[in-house]
Amino acid sequence: MITFALSKGRLAEKAGQLLAAAGVDTAVLSEDTRKLVLESADGEYRFFLVKPADVPIYVESGVADLGIVGKDTLIEEGRDLYEMLDLKMGECRLCIAGYPERRDVLTNPHLRVATKYVNTARRVFADREEIEIIPLHGSIELAPVTGLADVIFDVVQTGSTLKANGLVVLEEVFSGITARLVVNKVSLKTKAAHILPLIARLKEIL
Ligand code: PRP
Repeated sequence: MITFALSKGRLAEKAGQLLAAAGVDTAVLSEDTRKLVLESADGEYRFFLVKPADVPIYVESGVADLGIVGKDTLIEEGRDLYEMLDLKMGECRLCIAGYPERRDVLTNPHLRVATKYVNTARRVFADREEIEIIPLHGSIELAPVTGLADVIFDVVQTGSTLKANGLVVLEEVFSGITARLVVNKVSLKTKAAHILPLIARLKEIL
C-alpha cells in the first residue's frame, strides 16, 4: 500500500485529478466525509488529508510515502525528503507586498512584516538589523490594512486579494512556486516497484 499526504484546500481537487490520470484510484477523495484517512476500494492507496503546512512532516517521518504540496511550504518547512516532480499546477509567487504610495517603508530602519512564512521571511530579511516578523495564519493582507504590519510576505497567485485590499507587489522574492510531488527517502527504496512507475506515469502526463 502507498500512503499519500495531500493538502486540503486549493490544491486538493487538481492533485486528485492528476493522480487519477496517472492510474491511482482516487474515487474515495470525492466522498463527502469528515474522515481524514481514506482508502481506495482496491486497498492499494491510502490518503491523509492534512493542512498544507503539515504535508512535509508526514512525508519526512515516513508516516506517508508521498505528498503533494506547494513549493512555498517546502521552502518554509525545510524538511528532509525528496522533491521528485514539479507538478506545474497552482503557480504563484512569494512576494513582499504593501501600499503603493508607501514603498519607502522598505527602507525604514524598523520594518514590521506579517506572514505565515516565518522561517522564510527571517531568511529573506536576514540582512536587516531591525525586523519584526508578525506570524499570522491567514488573511495576511489584513495586517497592513489595519496597521498591524508595514508590509506582508505572502504568496500571490492571481493578485486579486492584494488588489481588493489596495495593496501591490513591492518585490518578488521567489517565482515559479508550484505544487511538487515529494517522497519519503526510505519509501523510495522500499516501495520503488510501486512508486517509480507512478512517477513515470505522472511525468508522461506532465
Ligand atoms: C492565499 C494568500 C493570499 C491569497 C493570494 O491565501 O495568503 O491571501 O491566497 O491569492 P490571489 O493572489 O489569487 O488573491 P489563501 O486563500 O490560501 O487563504 P488564507 O488567507 O486563509 O491563508
